[in-house]
Amino acid sequence: MDINQLKKEARQKLKKASNLKEIEKVEQEILGKKGALRDILKSLSDKSLAQRKKIGQDANVFKQNFTKELKKKKAVLKEQHWSRKKKEEKLDLTQPGQKLKTGHLHPLTQVLRETEDIFKSLGFGVVEGPEVDNEYYNFDALNIPAGHPSRDEWDTLWVKSKEGDKLLRTHTSPVQIHFMENNKPPFRIIAPGRVYRHEDTNKSHGFQFYQIEGLMIGEDISVANFKALIQEFFNQFFGRSVEMRMRTGYFPFTEPSFEIDIKSKDGEWLELVGAGMVHPHLYKSAGYEERKWQGFAFGIGLDRLTMLKYGIDDLRLLYNSDLRFIKQF
Ligand code: DAH
Repeated sequence: MDINQLKKEARQKLKKASNLKEIEKVEQEILGKKGALRDILKSLSDKSLAQRKKIGQDANVFKQNFTKELKKKKAVLKEQHWSRKKKEEKLDLTQPGQKLKTGHLHPLTQVLRETEDIFKSLGFGVVEGPEVDNEYYNFDALNIPAGHPSRDEWDTLWVKSKEGDKLLRTHTSPVQIHFMENNKPPFRIIAPGRVYRHEDTNKSHGFQFYQIEGLMIGEDISVANFKALIQEFFNQFFGRSVEMRMRTGYFPFTEPSFEIDIKSKDGEWLELVGAGMVHPHLYKSAGYEERKWQGFAFGIGLDRLTMLKYGIDDLRLLYNSDLRFIKQF
């Protein structure tokens, strides 16, 4: 290639280069150690003195000029690069902030936390027990022996395991026994959790739901203590003075047993809690000294509580994860 060709080619290449990297490449190709200009200077040795002089001078001038041209284009590109960046990454400190979208707790969890807070403020501890338990804790220890009629209404799923058959607990009452086995009275606890039943699903029944178990045992804990406690709970939970009534009921693990209804705003009585004085069989199950302790137990349906609080008329809404529903809480 002769020097004129080189000049032409070099300027064409420079014109085409559209970023710093490409310019550096052009610089290498033309002025670099292994570049085209170098090749031309190398080939001078077979030329005449006059030619060497002329081409040599020409090459030098070109080198100087082209170096300047490269520099100029580099500067232009750099400027373009930064002004583009500035535009793209402009930070406007006066712009209003963007609200981060976060989720929130499920209504059942909200009501559970509220319930826990109320009982905690009344001196209760919060404990948990296993959701997969064995027959003894779910039934026998609670005075529900094999063949007892109430086993029929508490049919559930059974799980085969190495330690013998287990079941998905049908209520939170077995936590009473687990806790009593490991703790000496006096104490007061609640034990919230999920329970399971073999049941067709409808507006007010599900095969899984939540209960909150309560247990308070001491030397002289009475029905009056229970009545005062549950009244206080209702008042705090619903934020008004709630009218309630106690009816006699039947549960194998309490004697006497009662059911507590509250009066809704529309004047309707709604059953909300099962309760009673802890049956002597349970003290025996837990290995307590006979006739030394007395106390009460209760079970509240958390789903029922949530539905009442928010006026929800179908239990299934709480479990089918429909955001149009959940976002309302
Ligand atoms: N375990 C009962 C149920 O699932 C509810 C219950 C009733 C719990 C009376 C209690 C109680 O602790 O004393 O229907």
